[in-house]
Amino acid sequence: MRIVYLNGEYLPENEARISIFDRGFLFADGVYEVTTVVDGKLIAFEGHFQRLNRSLAELQIEAEIDRDELLEIHRELITRNDLDQGMIYLQITRGNPGDRDFAFPTEPTEPTMVLFTQEKTVIGTAIEDKGLSVISIEDLRWGRRDIKTIQLLYPSLAKMEAKARGADDAWMVQDGEVTEGTANNAYIVKDGTIITRNLTNEILHGITRKSVLACAKALQMKVEERPFTIEEVKAADEAFATSASGFVNPVVEIDGERIGSGKPGQVAARLRDEYVRVNMKEAL
Ligand code: PDD
Repeated sequence: MRIVYLNGEYLPENEARISIFDRGFLFADGVYEVTTVVDGKLIAFEGHFQRLNRSLAELQIEAEIDRDELLEIHRELITRNDLDQGMIYLQITRGNPGDRDFAFPTEPTEPTMVLFTQEKTVIGTAIEDKGLSVISIEDLRWGRRDIKTIQLLYPSLAKMEAKARGADDAWMVQDGEVTEGTANNAYIVKDGTIITRNLTNEILHGITRKSVLACAKALQMKVEERPFTIEEVKAADEAFATSASGFVNPVVEIDGERIGSGKPGQVAARLRDEYVRVNMKEAL
């Protein structure tokens, strides 16, 4: 049985309990991070730690998170669960004010902090060879998508719509332009240039995105940070998506139409290799 972390304790998963009044449960009043583990080591821990602090500050959740302590908790969970490849999910909510009220409690509550491991193959997946098919769908999420909150209902509905239409994922569209995938940042490649939406409140500032764009620059690839349309996706040479748990995944089809050759592209493959190389070297 999995050993999970809850507010200072390591517990078997069926013994970890939180209050029904927890604002995470009642209002989705919380934030999360997903950090990938390869060979028992954490990929891009510092980036996830920094974004966690930013998300907490944006929601005025008063949680004092010590970097070394958080790293220790991650490592302890890897050890206790004998995790070789997969992810560590972390969630912090505003906690339990003892009742339901839209207003935040006047006396700050003790935040609820939960971490657990998930086993998943991240190196050598079938998607690397096969690529992903996506659908386009209207982006109906709220306007602060730069905060990594736990309110994931719309991405979840979008994922279900994709599955119902026989695809793997959905790329969300606002004013005719792609924002991002349900849980990944979106890219196209045209005439050797990598195009990905610029960072605003409309998308999550992906930790993988940042590293992948640095890899692209190191490999002398041209990058343009700007929104792009579904028509541009259909006319692109290749497309791909990035996320902590998927690294760089080729996208080969959108709304039933092939992108480029309909096969995983060279740029995505090179970026994936470089991303893994650089980040494994720095893994903690
Ligand atoms: N999702 N955009 C959205 C909406 C996301 O949910 C994610 C991550 C990303 C990629 O960010 P990063 O590179 O920092 O993982 C972009 C995580 C993996 C999840 O919800 O499981």
